[in-house]
Amino acid sequence: MTGLLDGKIALVTGGGNGIGRETSLAFAREGARVAVADYEAGAAAETVSLINAAGGQAISLSGDVTAAAQVQAMLDATIAAYGRLDCAFNNAGIAPYQVDSFGQLTHEWSEASFDRMIEVNLKSVWLCMKHELPLLRQAGGGAIVNTASIAGLVGLKTSGAYVAAKHAVIGLTKTAAMEYAEDAIRVNAVCPGFIATRMTARTREQRGDAIIERTPMHRFGEPREIAEMVVWLCSSRASFVTGAAYQVDGGWTAT
Ligand code: NAI
Repeated sequence: MTGLLDGKIALVTGGGNGIGRETSLAFAREGARVAVADYEAGAAAETVSLINAAGGQAISLSGDVTAAAQVQAMLDATIAAYGRLDCAFNNAGIAPYQVDSFGQLTHEWSEASFDRMIEVNLKSVWLCMKHELPLLRQAGGGAIVNTASIAGLVGLKTSGAYVAAKHAVIGLTKTAAMEYAEDAIRVNAVCPGFIATRMTARTREQRGDAIIERTPMHRFGEPREIAEMVVWLCSSRASFVTGAAYQVDGGWTAT
């Protein structure tokens, strides 16, 4: 049986949980060998165990995507293991509650929380691309998918810095798409709506019903539904797709 990513080498950041884990599994199912990176080393190792149990191949890497030296080390380890990089899913990210800003209006965010949010959800994407793009050039081309959000397309109350970071991820994605198109490197973003992961646990508890009501499909999405889009964007089926930001949101941004 042939997979959409047969023989490819893929890196996933934030691969220890949620969307990153499901996408790592989907990459492996489609024939890629996967470097699963996460600063929760145990979580990345668990994803690798799941991939191995399903007959796939993967390695786990630990490292903080906000630290340039650790990003470099992640990519060095990927090349040491597999010799090449073809696809990268820059997906690690955090929510406002993880910088103590749950429910805060724009003027209520602390400067430290704002800075940390930008560092994790925006600067890390640039740092990863900075180290990935030369490797994709060496490989003769490839694909990058960055995780933005519906918060990269529209505002969301009490998520100021998160929304700012995700809008900026789309801007970075479009610029890189233009800069590297002639190197046969495609760069796209995926914009998940509300997805059932640990990131949204508190939101689901506090206003899950309102979100379901507001979403045309009247449910939360599943991480595997994001993984499907990422696999497609990384595959040759998306050969003319670059600089795009695709919503997978049950219709949230259509309303
Ligand atoms: P999650 O919390 O389940 O997974 C995020 C992973 O990123 C975790 O394994 C975490 O350890 C890792 N991570 C966080 N900061 C890191 C760092 N500095 N270095 C290395 N790893 C780090 O969250 P989920 O929901 O899977 O989110 C993944 C991405 O999807 C994030 O970028 C998030 O902003 C985005 N997203 C999620 C949505 C949702 O509804 N769950 C909606 C829209 C976007």
